[in-house]
Amino acid sequence: MVPRFLRHAAGLLPPPARRAASGAMLDLLSLPARMTSLERRGEPWQALHNVGGGDFAQAGRDNLRLLIDRAGLEPSSRVLDIGCGAGRMAAPLADWLDPGAGYVGFDLSASAIAACRRRLGTKRDDFTFLHADIRNREYRARGSILETAFRFPVEDASIDIALATSVFSHMTLESIAHYLGEARRVLRPGGRFLFTAYALTPDRIAALGRSECQLPFKPWRGGAMVIDAKSPERAIAHPLPDLLAAVAAAGLDLPGGAAFGCWLPPSAYAGGQDLFVAVRPG
Ligand SMILES: C[S@@+](CC[C@H](N)C(=O)[O-])C[C@H]1O[C@@H](n2cnc3c(N)ncnc32)[C@H](O)[C@@H]1O
Repeated sequence: MVPRFLRHAAGLLPPPARRAASGAMLDLLSLPARMTSLERRGEPWQALHNVGGGDFAQAGRDNLRLLIDRAGLEPSSRVLDIGCGAGRMAAPLADWLDPGAGYVGFDLSASAIAACRRRLGTKRDDFTFLHADIRNREYRARGSILETAFRFPVEDASIDIALATSVFSHMTLESIAHYLGEARRVLRPGGRFLFTAYALTPDRIAALGRSECQLPFKPWRGGAMVIDAKSPERAIAHPLPDLLAAVAAAGLDLPGGAAFGCWLPPSAYAGGQDLFVAVRPG
């Protein structure tokens, strides 16, 4: 756990420097585990990439299990990884998908895409990693393409399983609505989209007020909450009804509703953020 005063000091920096500083702290804390575990020794450095805290490989394996159990991922599935980061999901997928199944990952971070290509590009010739110059105030403030105008780099109805883990937690509702529409476009009928987000209900807002959560969400606009009003995309929580309405407006079904994650107890599954599996009807 990073001491509170260090987190506070890092919070005063501009977003790229803040992420690098807090990543460096997480790297320091993970050094003992890296020294003793061969697998962890090779994981990407937090200071350079936004890989999320904890054991990189184990988190990837946990999410792979969710894709199989909850989204019906099969070895032959063609996968789109939205905001693929440094390849936390691409790595276990490269071991699990059949040769030729196909995977496309895109991200607005050029260094994350370079890391994916270095680590996995030679392992699988049916895996493609694409950099997209998308604008996001937290991650790429000078990007040339608005999130609400971005077209996913794959053909209509060509994807069996799409995923966006820990990406919508950094996007406004307008941008999420657009990405959901793009997911609907690229999924084949019956295809599934597993994504995570922070979802708010009245009970959960009350729990936040009692500070049962490590994430200091504060009211922002339109019922959403953020942890840093100077850079809202650092982490945004949206009202659950707004997320559900955006899924429906995109023409996707959500048969299982939302499974609440551990970021705010009580939780319905072991992952951190809230989990959604949308289906393109067909
Ligand atoms: C916390 S990381 C999660 C990365 C990866 N999905 C994972 O689970 O390891 C958030 C990622 O989303 C990317 N990102 C943020 N906004 C995005 C957007 N609008 N489109 C694509 N990627 C985005 C960031 O560059 C970053 O790599």
